[in-house]
Amino acid sequence: MTQDELKQAVAKAAIDAIRPQLDSESVIGVGTGSTANCFIDLLAELKTEFDGAVASSDATAERLKGHGIPVYDLNAVTGLEYYIDGADEANGQLELIKGGGAALTREKIVAAVARTFICIADDSKRVDLLGGFPLPVEVIPMARSHVGREIVKLGGDPVYREGVTTDNGNIIIDVHNLQIDNPIELERQLNNIVGVVTNGLFAQRPADILLLGTANGVETIKR
Ligand code: 5RP
Repeated sequence: MTQDELKQAVAKAAIDAIRPQLDSESVIGVGTGSTANCFIDLLAELKTEFDGAVASSDATAERLKGHGIPVYDLNAVTGLEYYIDGADEANGQLELIKGGGAALTREKIVAAVARTFICIADDSKRVDLLGGFPLPVEVIPMARSHVGREIVKLGGDPVYREGVTTDNGNIIIDVHNLQIDNPIELERQLNNIVGVVTNGLFAQRPADILLLGTANGVETIKR
C-alpha cells in the first residue's frame, strides 16, 4: 500500500470509530495536515449526522466549510467528544510530536478540550524514541533569538523555519538533534522559556487512541 492509501485507511477507521456515537448535537475537533484532510473528506459524507466541527487551523476551517460542514469557534461549544488529528511522530505511550504543518498551538488547545483524542497516522510515524523529526516550537517573533539560545542550553539545535507565520501571527523554530528520553519533562521545560507559545510535544496530553496504518491493516493502539 502507498502512504496515501494508508492515510485513507486510517481516516476511514477513525470515521468508523466515531460514527456510532454521533448525533445531531455532536461537534467534532478536527486537526490539520494531509492525514486530517483525508478524514475531513470522509467526514463530509456524514455531515447530516452531526452538528459541526471545531478546526485546529485556518486551512482546516476552509476545507470543512468547503464541504458545507459548519465550523464553530471553540469558545462557542461546551465540549468536544472527539479530536481527530495526524502526527509527525508517535511513540508506544502515544506521546506525539506535532506541528510539521505549524498548527501545533491550536491543535494542542483543541486536544486539551476533547474527551478522546484519536491520532491517525501511517506507520512511518511510529518511533521508539521521539526526536528524529525536528520538534516545532511556536515563538513570539521578538523572542526568537532568546528562545534559540535557551534551546541550545537544553541540548537542541534550533532552526528558524523561514517564511512561515502561524495562524496566530508567530514564528516556528524547529529543534533538531534532541534525544527525547522524557517527553513530559521536555514539554514542560520548553514551555517555560519566556516567548514560547507552546511546543509540538503532546506528552502531558497524549493521544488516547492511535490508529496506525500498516501493510497488514489498521492497528488500534490504546493507552
Ligand atoms: C500539523 C500537524 C500534522 O498533524 C502533522 O504534521 C502530520 O501531518 P501529515 O498528516 O500531513 O503527515 O501536526 O501541524
